[in-house]
Amino acid sequence: MRKLIAGNWKMNGLASSLAEIAALKGLTGTATCDIVVCPPFTLIEKAVAESRGSAILVGAQDCHAQSTGAYTGDVSADMLAEIGAHFVILGHSERRSAYREADAAVAAKATAAHKAGLTSIVCLGETREEREDGRAIDVVRAQLEGSVPEGATSSNTTIAYEPVWAIGTGLVPTIEQIEETHAAIRQALEGRMGYDGRHVRILYGGSVKASNAAAIFAVPNVEGALVGGASLKASEFAGIISAAV
Ligand code: 13P
Repeated sequence: MRKLIAGNWKMNGLASSLAEIAALKGLTGTATCDIVVCPPFTLIEKAVAESRGSAILVGAQDCHAQSTGAYTGDVSADMLAEIGAHFVILGHSERRSAYREADAAVAAKATAAHKAGLTSIVCLGETREEREDGRAIDVVRAQLEGSVPEGATSSNTTIAYEPVWAIGTGLVPTIEQIEETHAAIRQALEGRMGYDGRHVRILYGGSVKASNAAAIFAVPNVEGALVGGASLKASEFAGIISAAV
């Protein structure tokens, strides 16, 4: 399956950061994987303009479940689609913990994203305590059941497995842990979607760098990465992208 490498800039980036997208264009001209950059809302339209004529697509980091209405401060999937976004990250663990986003809310947002023509990147992942208690697979399976909506297909949905304890910590699960968890996610997707579940891309996220990317991409059922810190510098992000092709 063609890999997808997505960069989540989180709450980082002013207009000057668009230079990283310009540099990335130069570094990834011949990439044979899909590349997505998810800057903050304020930079999406500019990032779309900057990436025009390249293989880079642009995504957002969240959207609201409704398309319009009295939701002060929120942004809808239709608004994102209108300014050229193709993807939206949903249910990131930072939003699940800071804003108490539950699985049902993530599923409602994903439905809105799909209706607007966006591909959702639905994030799943256990905490350190859940991993240590031997509950990681159960937790991830339950999150998948609750967060992936009816109508999800391999063309409108991507899964990102991001263990909470691996995000921004430099800690990475063992290859065996990644393999086991991704296999469980694949099985759950096939249970949900039948044959089409085989074609949903499952990304790994959590302390991915140019130096560990190739080993992670060699794991069965890993079809790319969702990258935080290492996506902020074009040279490091390009190193991850070149490990995927
Ligand atoms: P890091 O790559 O900085 O660990 O972040 C991962 C992440 O949260 C991507 O969504």
